[in-house]
Amino acid sequence: MTRRFLVTGGAGYVGSHLVAALRARGDAVVVFDNLRTGHRAAVPADVRLVVADLADHAAVDATLGDGPFDGVFHFAGLTQVGESMREPYRYLYDNVATGIALVDACVRHKVPRFVLSSTAALFGMPDEVPIREEARIEPGNPYGDSKWMIERTLLWASRIHGLRSACLRYFNAAGADPDGRLGEDHRPESHLIPLVIDATLGRRPPLEVYGDDYATPDGTCVRDYVHVTDLADAHLLAFDRLAEGDVVWNLGNGAGHSVLEVIQAVERVAGAKVPYRFAPRRPGDPAVLVAAADRARAAGWRPRFHALDDIVRTAWAWREAHPEGYGG
Ligand SMILES: NC(=O)c1ccc[n+]([C@@H]2O[C@H](COP(=O)([O-])OP(=O)(O)OC[C@H]3O[C@@H](n4cnc5c(N)ncnc54)[C@H](O)[C@@H]3O)[C@@H](O)[C@H]2O)c1
Repeated sequence: MTRRFLVTGGAGYVGSHLVAALRARGDAVVVFDNLRTGHRAAVPADVRLVVADLADHAAVDATLGDGPFDGVFHFAGLTQVGESMREPYRYLYDNVATGIALVDACVRHKVPRFVLSSTAALFGMPDEVPIREEARIEPGNPYGDSKWMIERTLLWASRIHGLRSACLRYFNAAGADPDGRLGEDHRPESHLIPLVIDATLGRRPPLEVYGDDYATPDGTCVRDYVHVTDLADAHLLAFDRLAEGDVVWNLGNGAGHSVLEVIQAVERVAGAKVPYRFAPRRPGDPAVLVAAADRARAAGWRPRFHALDDIVRTAWAWREAHPEGYGG
């Protein structure tokens, strides 16, 4: 039987890759997105796109009322750590208020399962790396805290109303659809791999590498890059695992890569030099953020794009073919 899902933020980077994965297995999808950072062209023409803001409760109710839905995947929200330090209340208000209202609407419309895009930003400056799900939660910014508040909302919705939920804490989503249909097009872009690629293509000034004196092998920050298609697979798996109970997974590649390693990977894939220079550290940047994704792996998650070069290759192919992103 065809299953039917609502994907908030399905016109965005990670959400659009999940929409593709759901459709590849024959599921029906409705996308709810205000197109603030998402792109109409990222949503297939035959998928219903509701262009509305989650703060428009009537639109959320009307969409869910047009169910039934087997589940909701919630990607929509404000996503910039730095911006959240400048506009804390906007982040707390927008992300938390819309998240709570969406969870409430799901309960009222009897949606049985909910999958949340959470974040590694919950962990702030971690005591231990790799970071396990049980690690101390101490968000270092309002963005991370807003996700934690939605996680807490889901905990109570599960206990009180029986809404099953999966909280998927991603580390750094990276790469692009291997078939070249979808990719990353944030404006402005803040993620390292597209920034390195655009610097290499001469589409932006030389890359600034923040800090060269961290306690890492080459002195630059180490992060965990997980392919966006592997993330989409993890969402499908987490949804299925909800049959057994609630899910909390940290999702990463398990292997960290430094900024200089990313630069070298782009140089290998592009066959060109990456222009960059060192700049002072950014306050609040931990030296190393790497996930212990053992829980998801034990549940059967098998990332297909482990190697950094494979991740970069898909991102490079997307950018070469779509120099203007979805705008071209
Ligand atoms: N990209 C990453 O590396 C990463 C890492 C950890 C967590 N996440 C989380 O994953 C989710 C998706 O991230 P992304 O990189 O795809 O971001 P994105 O900006 O590409 O996608 C977000 C989508 O949500 C839509 N949206 C935002 N606010 C909305 C609102 N109030 N109502 C309706 N639609 C709204 C945007 O238009 C966009 O299409 C986010 O919740 C983010 O916090 C992303």
